[in-house]
Amino acid sequence: MNKIKFFECDDYEQLSGLVANKFIDKINSIKKPVLGLATGSSPIGVYQHLIKAYQNKKVSFANCTSFNLDEYIGLKKEYLDQSYQYFMNQNLFSHVDIDIKNTFFPVDQDNQDLTYDFENYDKKIDSYNGLDILILGIGNNGHIGFNEPGSSIDSKTRLINLTESTVEANSRFFKSKDDVPKKSVTMGLATILKAKEIVLVVVGKSKKEALLKLKSAKVFDSNWPCTALVEHNNTSVYFIKSEIN
Ligand code: F6R
Repeated sequence: MNKIKFFECDDYEQLSGLVANKFIDKINSIKKPVLGLATGSSPIGVYQHLIKAYQNKKVSFANCTSFNLDEYIGLKKEYLDQSYQYFMNQNLFSHVDIDIKNTFFPVDQDNQDLTYDFENYDKKIDSYNGLDILILGIGNNGHIGFNEPGSSIDSKTRLINLTESTVEANSRFFKSKDDVPKKSVTMGLATILKAKEIVLVVVGKSKKEALLKLKSAKVFDSNWPCTALVEHNNTSVYFIKSEIN
């Protein structure tokens, strides 16, 4: 059964404010909050609202730990500013009081040892008693994290090949499509589903098909990885009315 709660927003500003408030309430209600974080264009507005709330003393990240969803593998040196670690520093961490030692990524940009057992990331999340709240974006092809179509619902954090459609979508940040990394390490669908609360932000007209699949899904369909969320008990999805209708 699909227990997901869907919220139709008027615009990006409203969506970002509502989702940020959810994070603020969660952080303020827990002693040592554990956050799951996404990169990409969609959550930038949420992070801006969180920064403002921090400046206005409505929230502090001092006791927070964070785990990011994914990270590229094989970024060329000239593009290190496209790493997700860099993105998080630019868009959130350097503006708030989170202790950078408590921010984790599934792979280190400076030390990409591909023989590493990436499932240790899941174990590390478990050792923090799991993610209290996780923000997700969604790909045009329905990926969440970088769980591309065909991903198993039992998947844990692992190395994955990005699909042509994802490479194409991400090429907007690179000089040429050839420069876009073709691999990433991502939390798996099982890793994501273990989060106590999930908030998916759907931003962009190109996400319409994926959102409609998610709305109508009754069970998991591996062609649309986002449908794994129907298996979760506490997921909210925020989207913008005019982009979908
Ligand atoms: C990023 C991530 C991806 C993005 C998705 C949408 O950490 O896990 O799933 O959320 O590709 O990207 P944007 O928001 O740029 O459209």
